[in-house]
Amino acid sequence: MAKLWTGRFSKETDQSLDQLNASLPFDRRLYHEDIAGSMAHARMLAKQGIISDQDGEKIVSGLQTILEDIEKGVLKIEGAEDIHSFVEQVLTSRIGDAGKRLHTARSRNDQVALDLRMYVKEKIDQIYELTIEMMQALCERAQQHVYTVMPGYTHLQRAQPVTLAHVWMAYANMLRRDCRRLKNTKMLMDEMPLGSGALAATTYPIDRQYVCDLLGFAKLTENSMDGVSDRDYCMEFANDCAILMVHLSRMCEEIILWCSWEFRFVELDDAFSTGSSIMPQKKNPDVCELIRGKSGRVFGDLMTLLSMQKGLSLAYNKDMQEDKEAVFDVVDTLLHSLQVLIPMFQTMKIHEENMKQAALGGFINATDCADYLTKKGVPFRDAYKCIGELVAWCIKQGCTLQDVELSQLQQFHPLFAEDVYHAIDLQTCVEQRNVPGGPAPEAVKQQIASIKQFIRNEGKA
Ligand code: ARG
Repeated sequence: MAKLWTGRFSKETDQSLDQLNASLPFDRRLYHEDIAGSMAHARMLAKQGIISDQDGEKIVSGLQTILEDIEKGVLKIEGAEDIHSFVEQVLTSRIGDAGKRLHTARSRNDQVALDLRMYVKEKIDQIYELTIEMMQALCERAQQHVYTVMPGYTHLQRAQPVTLAHVWMAYANMLRRDCRRLKNTKMLMDEMPLGSGALAATTYPIDRQYVCDLLGFAKLTENSMDGVSDRDYCMEFANDCAILMVHLSRMCEEIILWCSWEFRFVELDDAFSTGSSIMPQKKNPDVCELIRGKSGRVFGDLMTLLSMQKGLSLAYNKDMQEDKEAVFDVVDTLLHSLQVLIPMFQTMKIHEENMKQAALGGFINATDCADYLTKKGVPFRDAYKCIGELVAWCIKQGCTLQDVELSQLQQFHPLFAEDVYHAIDLQTCVEQRNVPGGPAPEAVKQQIASIKQFIRNEGKA
């Protein structure tokens, strides 16, 4: 197809340049935004008397049929440099001269700035809503496990008793921050750039506010050079998603460990597991490994966007065409990951008994045992040392703290009495941690209520 810039050039461009220059293979997915933006622009041009009402109507209905034909699959997006030239070329071939008037008072620079903003705004909403769904699933499963005691770990060593609900709510809190970040990004980027022109706006008497209202943006960008070249929202979006992927990846790592035979805390549903081609016994958590692996792509996309723009003088530079594949990859990765993680999580089987056994075995009540002595007046440091010696003795004997007879305990410290067994009982250890944010059932119920309230009030993007 003919180039948009005929007139100035006396030769065809080299094929190798065409290939490097073309963005249609990826920006084709902006067709919806491009057409919506063009419709609003054409309506505005007609309203302002820059083009006739008749041409305005022809353009709008022409664009409408192009949209329908693309969606029906009868119009293939091909044969142009980018989505903007594609739409304009098809329009002109269908409606003639009126099509050639569409690009009045506009540049592809502000057009692509508009399209990408519209796209990112919509995708933020989708990712936001899936993140809310994940939080909802975490709340539902947490509610069933406020009394399910398990070891909490530091350095992957059994540390202190927590509950499964407490663990799930830790992830829910991470995701709530992700939602807030996404919402903030959307709020900051909600500005309409069209009318910035190539960089220096336009001499035509356009009505930017009218286009802004038609397209549902909160306000106008305030500087045309910034308007065409601002990609902060892409970086912020990728950053929000990178952090979100860190959280999903950590949760996946947790589940990978927990499905191993060393832990056996959970078992994935067959529908969300894979097997081995050679080892018949294998049931692998590939979903989790893929999400953990894919987090790296999103970090890479963020780096692409940051590096793409750091050396660019004002205003538009073609380097900026590189923004799209990075943004699309972020979107695809996040949507895919969340769409599979949610049902995988919902259908996962929990082996409470194994969690409890692990909790019984790792001296995770040692701090509570020291606290027991401290509450009887022993300085914490002395209590700590005494329990350390007691634990070393138990390891030698192959028993747990709760197995040791009272007379034996008293050899380590005379203040041990019968009530120690209640104090170091795992259920007690968890229940006593009843401060805001703690793992006690009452405290976790409050955490669940807080997340549920957030979902109720801010569940919609
Ligand atoms: N395909 C271009 C992009 O993605 C559209 C804007 C092109 N502008 C230009 N002056 N060549 O950034």
